[in-house]
Amino acid sequence: MQNNDVVLSVNNLVKDFPLGQSAKSNMMRAVNDVTFELRKGEALAIVGESGSGKSTGARILTRIYDKTAGDVTFKGEPLDKYIEKNGELEYARQVQMIFQDPFGSLNPVHTIYHHIARPLLIHQRAEKEAIPQLVYELLDMVGLSPVKETAEKFPHELSGGQRQRVAIARAIAVSPEVILADEPISMLDVSVRLGILNLMADLKDKHGISFMYITHDIATARYFAEKTAVMYVGHMVEWGDSDNVTQNPQHPYSKLLLSAVPEVGKAGRRDLEVKKGDIPMWKPSSVGCPFATRCPNATEVCSQEMPATTQISEQHFVRCHHI
Ligand SMILES: Nc1ncnc2c1ncn2[C@@H]1O[C@H](COP(=O)(O)OP(=O)(O)OP(=O)(O)O)[C@@H](O)[C@H]1O
Ligand SMILES: [Mg+2]
Repeated sequence: MQNNDVVLSVNNLVKDFPLGQSAKSNMMRAVNDVTFELRKGEALAIVGESGSGKSTGARILTRIYDKTAGDVTFKGEPLDKYIEKNGELEYARQVQMIFQDPFGSLNPVHTIYHHIARPLLIHQRAEKEAIPQLVYELLDMVGLSPVKETAEKFPHELSGGQRQRVAIARAIAVSPEVILADEPISMLDVSVRLGILNLMADLKDKHGISFMYITHDIATARYFAEKTAVMYVGHMVEWGDSDNVTQNPQHPYSKLLLSAVPEVGKAGRRDLEVKKGDIPMWKPSSVGCPFATRCPNATEVCSQEMPATTQISEQHFVRCHHI
């Protein structure tokens, strides 16, 4: 469903990668039939284990990868059309990315000042004379003070959490509509993770930035994001309001993820006995439910047909044959 608040939407997105070097190689399907919306000032958490296609989805949105099939819409227009009209640079300004490793994403030979001033210059966000003041304001906004001293430092002189704050300042410098945050806290010390999540929540609530928050950790998804989509082997298996998905999980895989979280795992832990089956490599020709090999409830139909979507409540959907 589209409404005016939808900033970015993805419909039936598919991404295949070749398994070998030659053009005739077999393909693997990293993302299959993924559909979601990012609304203004709202966060969507994409939760799933390694290899579930989370980063591939984000890379398609930042145009690092081409999609195999499906549609991406930005501000109500097909993405290609939007870019044709407004240019790649403008889209890149509006859809920023934050990565897992804040050290790797900063250049060790440049100061913090340089990192934040650069996008302001590239995207012509201010007159040259106004840039220092803007850099200081941005550092203050992300909680890095004293601002002048911080600006003069190099990335190695900051802690991991401080470096991630610099990466966030750089992303918001250009007033983006959307931030794609790919596991932004997973490499940080546990003690500073909450501070970064709270900073992102502030940017979402006060500045109306929409977030796609990629994580392995369903507990932080619920803490930070209004919406949650659980992915397994490239498929969305359950999605909707984070409270619905995490408090009343329906899919056995969501229950499995929640069972690993002591605080919110009560609902998931009940009767959970997941088989030690292999995680399948999905191919364009694969059939059935991707979780069938590990699912305690699997029956014949699960290995033969992809489950249709069942609506559990207004904002709660699941793909499982046994709901
Ligand atoms: N450039 C590529 N070429 C070939 N295969 C790729 C490429 N990028 C990703 N894949 C494959 O696509 C699948 C999904 O990868 P992706 O990186 O999107 O997973 P992820 O959910 O982000 O995992 P993680 O939690 O480990 O970051 C994996 O099987 C991966 O090997
Ligand atoms: Mg990833």
